Amino acid sequence: MNEQERVKTVEKFVCSVLKDDRTGHDLEHVFRVRRLSLHLAVHEGGNRDIIELSALLHDCADPKLVSSEEEAYKRIDELLRACDVPPNDVNHIIHIIKSVSFKGGNGEPPSTIEGKIVQDADRLDAIGAIGIARAFTYGGAKGHVLFKEDEIPRTVMTEDEYHQNPSSVIGHFYEKLLLLKEKMNTKKAIELATDRHRFMMEFLEKFKEEWNGTNEDVN
Ligand code: ADP
Ligand code: NI
Repeated sequence: MNEQERVKTVEKFVCSVLKDDRTGHDLEHVFRVRRLSLHLAVHEGGNRDIIELSALLHDCADPKLVSSEEEAYKRIDELLRACDVPPNDVNHIIHIIKSVSFKGGNGEPPSTIEGKIVQDADRLDAIGAIGIARAFTYGGAKGHVLFKEDEIPRTVMTEDEYHQNPSSVIGHFYEKLLLLKEKMNTKKAIELATDRHRFMMEFLEKFKEEWNGTNEDVN
């Protein structure tokens, strides 16, 4: 199978796994992560084929989307072998998917440049204007409120308490989105994240200003 056919086959597979998702793991997210990853690769290097396939598949074993992670990795393994990807590369791609998706990427950073790039691209897509839009889409799908003024920080709750008392969408910025800038692996991603982070801070400032009326009322 040639490279183009391989990418088409993998795209079709990803489409079949993600097509019904409405919580921010949609196909458009995957395509943005691919574009961003390939852009980062221009600056940071890495094997572009491995980066592209890993970016396309990075959400396909997410426990939020599949009933069995083990089964999902098996299917990915079979798919890549059927596409004539060399066994070493198959293992590398699976390693990348595991490290990117592990608890939202909170484990050990990926050990290879290809993994670092795909993780950075996934995190970049959670911040900035797109990140803001995705957070509100997720919050809407889950029925979360926009903002709670006296929110209990997630860090002092157990998982069970959290599920009974989920954070507001704005709360999600403080528990996760504003922390992502510091977690970028590569130089180019740090640069892009800095701009996206600044935009989120501006948004939050405006949001709170409007929540309280307008700053013209405040003396
Ligand atoms: P990842 O892509 O790292 O697996 P998640 O599955 O946690 O990320 O989230 C997918 C999208 O939904 C992201 O844009 C994330 O910011 C958003 N999201 C996740 N949890 C929440 C939440 N509690 N409130 C608002 N948005 C959320
Ligand atoms: Ni993702």
